[in-house]
Amino acid sequence: MMKVLELKGVTKKYGGFTAVDAVSLEIEQGKVLSLLGPSGCGKTTTLRIIAGFTSPDSGSVEISGEDVGQLRPYERNVGLLFQDYALFPHMTVDQNVAYGMRYRGTPVSAVASRVKQMLSLVQLGGMENRYPNQLSGGQQQRVALARALATDPQIVLLDEPLSALDAKLRLELRIELKEILRSVGATTIVVTHDQEEALSLGDEVVVMHAGTVVQRGTPTQIYEAPASKFVAEFVGRSNWFYGARPRRSDSGMSSYLTGDGVEICARSGQEGSSADLCIRPENIELVNGSAREPVDYPGHNVLLGVVLDVAPLGADVHVVIELPGKSRLLAIRKNVGRSQALLPGEPVRAVFSMSDVLVF
Ligand SMILES: Nc1ncnc2c1ncn2[C@@H]1O[C@H](COP(=O)(O)OP(=O)(O)O)[C@@H](O)[C@H]1O
Ligand SMILES: [Mg+2]
Repeated sequence: MMKVLELKGVTKKYGGFTAVDAVSLEIEQGKVLSLLGPSGCGKTTTLRIIAGFTSPDSGSVEISGEDVGQLRPYERNVGLLFQDYALFPHMTVDQNVAYGMRYRGTPVSAVASRVKQMLSLVQLGGMENRYPNQLSGGQQQRVALARALATDPQIVLLDEPLSALDAKLRLELRIELKEILRSVGATTIVVTHDQEEALSLGDEVVVMHAGTVVQRGTPTQIYEAPASKFVAEFVGRSNWFYGARPRRSDSGMSSYLTGDGVEICARSGQEGSSADLCIRPENIELVNGSAREPVDYPGHNVLLGVVLDVAPLGADVHVVIELPGKSRLLAIRKNVGRSQALLPGEPVRAVFSMSDVLVF
């Protein structure tokens, strides 16, 4: 596959502070790459460097094999939706979408038909003559997307495209955004600090932390095999047992004792060293304590506890269990109806595979 964009060792410093630290990444034709990381980790700076608004102190940016280091932003064939750049308030929807094409000297008739095509793509046909303040937040973001795509850029850069919207709209527009990007085959980098957004939008996800790329992988790889404690903490919900002490190790199994005195066995881990243990809540099965004694769960941990709280959240039920020593465990189960309901105060067994214990 053709590399549309390649960053090699890109570094940007502000005074003594390194905002982007030797970032290398590449993206292939038609793929969507999510750039995920907490606020301040260098995502926007990376996009600004690609677009040409910020020049790196070292490293290079290539678009379709050409080093674009000497090109001005408008000379780079890049479509932008920037977090802090709203629509031009004094321009109509039409004029906003046409802006990039006008700037590049596209003939008037071609601009008109392209604007029409773009507005129909984002389902805003008929809104051509409105001003941004006559549109809802979601409609404004769709206009901004149409504007970013209008010049048929080689690469589309979207910086937190959904962050200004409320939760419900955010989800709707996320699905729509994904469909639009796929339908036009846009090679895209979408920046977000929202892990759910990153995992759902990207063919691949790049996780950034303090200016560096800490992991790149498919959404499944990032979630199921986080490369570090930072990634595991940042992506998805987890139960953590920090500083668990090693007890014994044999035949591919290590057991640990948590600070609260709970024994947990794992398949991985370095012999003899203490560790931080991570268990994803959906990997925990709950077995009602009053059911008949289970014979055995080979390869699994079985922790006895008491149900502390049950929160039915639509499709899922979040169950908090108190283990001996007061430590707590969150289990997320599918909401399969009343017959399997657990009640606070009931004894329960939390069962999870030793292979599902991530050790850092
Ligand atoms: N023009 C600038 N001058 C000084 N510091 C900056 C500038 N732009 C960004 N930074 C700093 O660089 C870091 C990364 O910023 P940014 O790329 O905007 O992060 P993100 O988009 O991931 O939230 C932050 O600590 C920010 O304060
Ligand atoms: Mg940012």
